[in-house]
Parts: sequence; structure tokens; C-alpha cells
Amino acid sequence: MPCPIRAAPIVSSTSSTVDSAQGSDALGFFLPTAPARAGPARMMRRRKPGRRSDEQGMAKTPRTPAPRKTTAARKPALAGYLQKILTARVYDVAIESALEAAPRLSARLGHRVLFKREDTQPVFSFKLRGAYNKMAHLPKEALARGVICASAGNHAQGVALAARELGCKALVVMPTTTPSLKVAAVRALGAEVVLRGDSYSDAYAHAIELEGKRGLTFVHPFDDPDVIAGQGTIAMEILRQHPGPIDAIFVAIGGGGLVSGIAAYVKAVRPSIRIVGVQMNDSDAMLRSVKAGRRVELADVGLFSDGTAVKKVGAETFRLARQLVDDWVVVDSDAACAAIKDVFEDTRSILEPAGALGVAAIKQYAHGRDAKGETYVAITCGANMNFDRLRFVAERAEFGEEREALFAVTIPEERGSFRRLCELIGPRAVTEFNYRISDAAEAHVFVGLATIDRAESARLAEDFASHGFPVLDLTGDDLAKEHVRHMVGGRSALARDERIYRFVFPERPGALMRFLSRMPAGWNISLFHYRNQGADYGRILVGLQVPPKDEKAFADFLETLAYPCADETGNPAYRLFLQ
Ligand SMILES: Cc1ncc(COP(=O)(O)O)c(C=O)c1O
Repeated sequence: MPCPIRAAPIVSSTSSTVDSAQGSDALGFFLPTAPARAGPARMMRRRKPGRRSDEQGMAKTPRTPAPRKTTAARKPALAGYLQKILTARVYDVAIESALEAAPRLSARLGHRVLFKREDTQPVFSFKLRGAYNKMAHLPKEALARGVICASAGNHAQGVALAARELGCKALVVMPTTTPSLKVAAVRALGAEVVLRGDSYSDAYAHAIELEGKRGLTFVHPFDDPDVIAGQGTIAMEILRQHPGPIDAIFVAIGGGGLVSGIAAYVKAVRPSIRIVGVQMNDSDAMLRSVKAGRRVELADVGLFSDGTAVKKVGAETFRLARQLVDDWVVVDSDAACAAIKDVFEDTRSILEPAGALGVAAIKQYAHGRDAKGETYVAITCGANMNFDRLRFVAERAEFGEEREALFAVTIPEERGSFRRLCELIGPRAVTEFNYRISDAAEAHVFVGLATIDRAESARLAEDFASHGFPVLDLTGDDLAKEHVRHMVGGRSALARDERIYRFVFPERPGALMRFLSRMPAGWNISLFHYRNQGADYGRILVGLQVPPKDEKAFADFLETLAYPCADETGNPAYRLFLQ
């Protein structure tokens, strides 16, 4: 578990000049990072034609990292941002979101956890702050010509809403792969949508082309001081809403606009508060860049947390993050899913994966510390979740919480061994049970069990082994979790006299085991499929090898069992794939 990783050392004031120049080249503005004696901060616009910071831009020469900057040295660099944040215009479109206590999570962790509810913004993410601030500061003529952006989601909605409020045209270029829900949301806000390419980069390239052709102003999703300042208003609200002690603020990072804005404000006003940057393990461009001392471009990014899936961070956001982020936490998608569940339990709201990263990080961070009773703030920064993802989230939340263990248990293919296995499992909640006869001597059963923590899976594995069942612990095996569990089965030459039945039984602890133990030991089970889906009733598919002479006994068994059931032996899907 890579938590928490200390930030790489910060550039010295001399080398940061190089850094600033780098930002200047790419971005067309220059924010001095000179030491205290250099006088007040200046914010100048110095646009060089034809250059822009974007996820696809070229990285510059690496530099040797120097020791971390002191707060005093940071201050002048921050003064410009402090002023920009204090004067940012966001409240024409954004609300001051609540800073809410999370009592359940706080009790579990032994720390006070607060959620900054940016998921409750009108477009369900913080993105409208930066977009609106940028657009509200554009000259009238630029606004009259209209704006353009490239985005696969939240930024697009922020720009569209801001444009509607400011009465200007917005053109949004989205990849053709964008879910129709998000396309519809942007169109509903009155923006024109152009679908182009199958990735953000394709959409971005097309947006740049259109920007020139149509004389539109490009609104960058993160690498722009006005966008950064707009996001910084979140920190301004937090410090006003909670004047008491705050130990750390946890911020999800994609391109870095959100963390830059928050850190710029916090480090200028209450520098003792730690800023913890949170990255997905498959989209960690900022952390890699900070470690390398230069912006690193990732070949690929995972899309589960689509809000933070950025291949290359901004020049200005990199400059700020490497100076201002104190600690780093890297989380995976299971941890994000578990955090979505935690937030649901405390608020009854559902976040999108990127929106939950801060919460996931608090959990990891807290586990790695001896201290108790600290105050942590997570920015719950988005809720644009596709409904069809919920199933995956619910399933993976159990792994993220380490509350489900998976095993491949080998049992001898002989009468009674299936039941012996079930007796060993006992009343423990079974989350999955999959088996298909395939070998005359041995059977491999795919078993999922509810657990309290990950250590329990090792204890259970030992228990299986000590009772003579060879076992493979698959709890951490992605192949097993994502694919193999759905593929147990297939045709079997050994499944003679097989009858296939679907049963429905009440989903309560022990119900599955009761069902199994009532089955006469004389009949061989040739197929068994059960997966707890959180439904009120358990549904299992069972293959039983019942000799023709036992016809009557089988009918009696079904009757005494009294669970609703259906004979599926003639089902065409069964015949095609399993018989
Ligand atoms: C929900 C959500 N969280 C976090 C981020 C990351 O923000 P940034 O790119 O400014 O780092 C985004 C960016 O779009 C987002 O939509």
C-alpha cells in the first residue's frame, strides 16, 4: 500500500525561475516565484503564439530537485493567487457547498472527517467554478465571439452552464465515446456539441482547430490561472466554514487545477494545514511528474475514475502542485468503490469515482498513522456517475473494504464432499458459490465469503487446508474477480442424467447452507451457481445427477424443500452452452 508517499523535494528559488519560464512558455502567463526579497507578486500575461499547455504537449528537460521551499519563500508566489481567489467570480453559478460531518466514517477511523460537498453543485461537480471565473474575466468581444472547450464530462457541463449564464455561445468538443447522458446534459444547458475522435486527445486537437477557424476562446479544464483561482474558492469556503483546527485536506488530482487552487489559498492563509494530493494508481501523472522533477506524459490512463484520467498535467498546475502539495496518496479502483459506499452510508448520496478519491485517501492515510482525533477534509468533488456503473461499484466496494474473500477450493469428486465443504463454511455469509463438474477425481469450487478484514481471508484459507481441502486464495486476483468468476462452467461429458433447476430462496444468513444440507447426499451435484446480488431473494442454478429410478424421490425432495423452483433442463441456453 503506497500510502502516504512524501512529496519529492521542491525546487529552489533559482531553479523555480526555470520552472516558471516553463509555465510561461506553455501557458502564455508568468507568475513569479522569487524569494521574499523580490517584492510583491506580479501576474502578467505573456502569450507566445502557437504554444499551449495540454495533455499532449512535450515535456521539458528534467532538473535536479532542490530542498523544499519554506512557507516564507512560498508566500510571494502565492500572493497573486490569493488575490485572484478572493476576487474570483463564481457565485453567479456556484453555490457555497456545505462542509458536512461524516459521523460514521469518523467513528470508524477515530478522526474527525468532513466532506466538502462539491458534488451538490448545480452540475454535480466543482468544475463550474473555474470555468465561470475564466469566462467572466474574458473581454466583452471575446465573450461575444464565444468559447470552446474539449471535455468528456464535467468541465463541459461547467463551461456550458457558465456560457448560458453569461449569454455567450459555447462549443464543446467531446469524444464520440462520451456517454449519451453527458452529451445530453451539455446540450440541455444550451451548448453546441461536436463529437470527434475516440479519446480526449482527438477531441482536444479538433477543438484547437475550431478555436482558430471560428475565433473562439479556448477554456482550458485546468491549466489556466483563472480556472485555478475559481477552484481555489473551495478552500476559501472551507477555512471560513471551519475556523477550528484542520490537519489535512485531501484533494483528487487529474490535471491539477483543483489541487493548485486549493493549495494556493490554504498555503497563503493557513500554511500548517497539510495538502494531500490523491491520485489513482492508473492515472498518476502528477505524482510521477513531481517525482521526476518534470512533467511526465503517461502512455495510457485508466478510465474508471474518468474525472482524473489525464495523461499529462498542466505546466502551471505542475509548478504549483510540486511546491504546495505536502503528501501523496495513491488509491486503486476498489478503494474508490469502497469510498463511494462510505459516503453513501454517511450522506445517502452517490459520488462518481473521481469524487470519492479524497475519502479513499483519508482511509489509507489514517491507517498509516498512530495519531487519533485529527481533523481531515475530503473534497467530494463530483457525482456524475453513470447509473449502470453502480453494479460494478457495489461489487468492488466489498473488495475495497476487504469484506469479501474469494477462494478456489478443491474437493474430491465423491458423494458427501460438497456437503462437508458447506458444513465447514457453516453459517458464514456466502457471497458466491460456483461449480461445474469437470473431472472424475476432483472438483474446483469458486467460493466467495463475507469477511471482516483482509487478514480473515488468510485464516479462512488455512481452515480449508487444515480440513483437507486444498485452496487457492483469489481475494487479490483481478483475473478471478473480473472474469473467471463469470466463466465457471461449460459443457461436461460427466454430467449424465443431469437435471437443471432454478431455485429461489429468502436471502438471509444460512439459507443457502440450509438448502444444501437438505439435499439428499446420494445425488451428485454437477453444477451450482449462486451470486449474492444484494437482492431480497437468492437465486441459484443447480445441476443434479438423479438416476431415472429416483424420479419419485426427487419429486418428494422438491416438495419438502418448498422453495419456488423451475425445471430448466429443456432450456435452450442451457442446451447450447452447458449440456
Ligand atoms: C469529479 C472530478 N474530480 C477531480 C477532478 C480533477 O480536477 P483537476 O483536473 O483540476 O485536477 C475532476 C476533473 O475534471 C473531476 O471532474
